Amino acid sequence: MSPLSAKELEDRYELPVYPRRDLVLVRGKGAKLYDDQGREYIDCASNVGVSNIGHGHEEVARAIHEQYLALGNCYSMFYNPVRAKLAEKLVSVSPPRLQRVFFCNSGAEAVEGALKFTRSTSGKGEIIAAMRGFHGKTYGALAATWGEEYQKPFVPMMPGLKHVPFNNFQKLSEAVSGETAGIILELVQGEGGVRVGDKVYFEQVRELCDKRGVLLILDEVQTGFGRTGTLFACEQYVEPDMLCVAKSLAGGIPMGAVLCSDAVKVPMKSHTSTFGGNPLACAAALASLEVIEREKLSERAKALGEYFLTELRSVKSAKIREVRGLGLMIGIELKEKAGPSVQQIIEKGVIVLLAGATVIRLLPPLVITKEEIDQVLNVLKEVLAAGC
Ligand SMILES: Cc1ncc(COP(=O)(O)O)c(C=O)c1O
Repeated sequence: MSPLSAKELEDRYELPVYPRRDLVLVRGKGAKLYDDQGREYIDCASNVGVSNIGHGHEEVARAIHEQYLALGNCYSMFYNPVRAKLAEKLVSVSPPRLQRVFFCNSGAEAVEGALKFTRSTSGKGEIIAAMRGFHGKTYGALAATWGEEYQKPFVPMMPGLKHVPFNNFQKLSEAVSGETAGIILELVQGEGGVRVGDKVYFEQVRELCDKRGVLLILDEVQTGFGRTGTLFACEQYVEPDMLCVAKSLAGGIPMGAVLCSDAVKVPMKSHTSTFGGNPLACAAALASLEVIEREKLSERAKALGEYFLTELRSVKSAKIREVRGLGLMIGIELKEKAGPSVQQIIEKGVIVLLAGATVIRLLPPLVITKEEIDQVLNVLKEVLAAGC
C-alpha cells in the first residue's frame, strides 16, 4: 500500500489537465455523495450530467453484473441480442425521423461520428457550429467546440468549421453556403453557460436545413435522458437528422451513440469502434432507460426544475444577474466570478459546477427529492444572498 493519499498519488502520476477540487469522493447513493472522511454532500452536478438516475442504482448494478458474467464484450462484427435490443429501444424512443444508431463510448466520440457522417452523406466539407458551443475535445469535436482556450494549444484545427452566434438566425443563414454539409448545435448550451435555445430559432434552422439540403445535428450529450423535462430536449424543439447522446445513456457506464435518419450514408468499415455497443454498456443502458421510464424521471425533472427555477428567481441577491434553465439543467449567472461562490457552496455540502467564469451550473440527479432541493436552496441563499 502506498503511504501517499489519493490526492498525492493523482497529483503525482496523472497529467494535470483537470482543475481539481480538494475533495476525495468514494461513494454515492441516489442524489448523495460521500467523501473519504464520511462527509455527506447533495450532488447537484451528476458527474457533469451523467448520473441522471442517481448513484448506485441496484437495477443497473445487477444488469452489469449479470451481463459481464454472460458476455462482457462482443465486437460488432458479430450480432448480439443485448445490443440489438438497445438499438431497437433507442430508435423507438427517439424522434420518428431517427431510424438507425451508431454506438460509441463518449460524447466527443458521438460528435466525431456525426461530423464524419455529415461529410460522408453530403460529400461537402463545411460544418457550422455556434459560439459558446461545446462538443468535446477530440480533434473533430474540438474544431466544433468554441473557445480559443481549448483550441490554441492544439492547432492546426480540422478545417471546415465555422462558428456563428447562438440563437441568431440571421447570422446563421448568412453563413450557410453551397459547401455547407451540416449544422451542429446544442439546444441548451451547457458548458457555454446554460443558455437555453429559442424554439423559433430552432424552427427556422430546421426549415433552412430542409430548404438547403443541410443536415441538422443536435448534440444532446448533456441535455439527453430526461434532464430538460423530456427524454430528449429536441422533443420540445425540432427533429434533427442526427442526435448525439452519451453521458447518462448507460446509467454511469461509458457509452455514446449517434441516432441517424435514413438520409445518413456511411461506407462500410469507414467508421467503427472496438468497444462501441459492447453488451455490458448496452445492458446498463437498457436498465437505465427502464428506470427513467418507470420512475417517470423526465416528468419529475420538469416539475422539480420549475420549482427550483421559481425559488431561485425569488432569491434576493445583489450577486445574481440571471437565473435560467430548462428542467433540471439550471444556470445562475453572477455579476462576478463564480469560482469563490462555488467553493463556498461545496464547503457547505452541495456539489455544484461552473459553466464559464460567471455561471454556477446545477445538474442534480433527476431522483433528487424536493426536500434535498430545499436544502440546496438554503445553502445557495446563505452564499449568494450574504450581505443583502
Ligand atoms: C454537449 C456536449 N457535447 C459533447 C461533450 C463531450 O462529451 P465527453 O466528455 O463524453 O467526450 C460534452 C461534455 O461535457 C457536452 O456537454
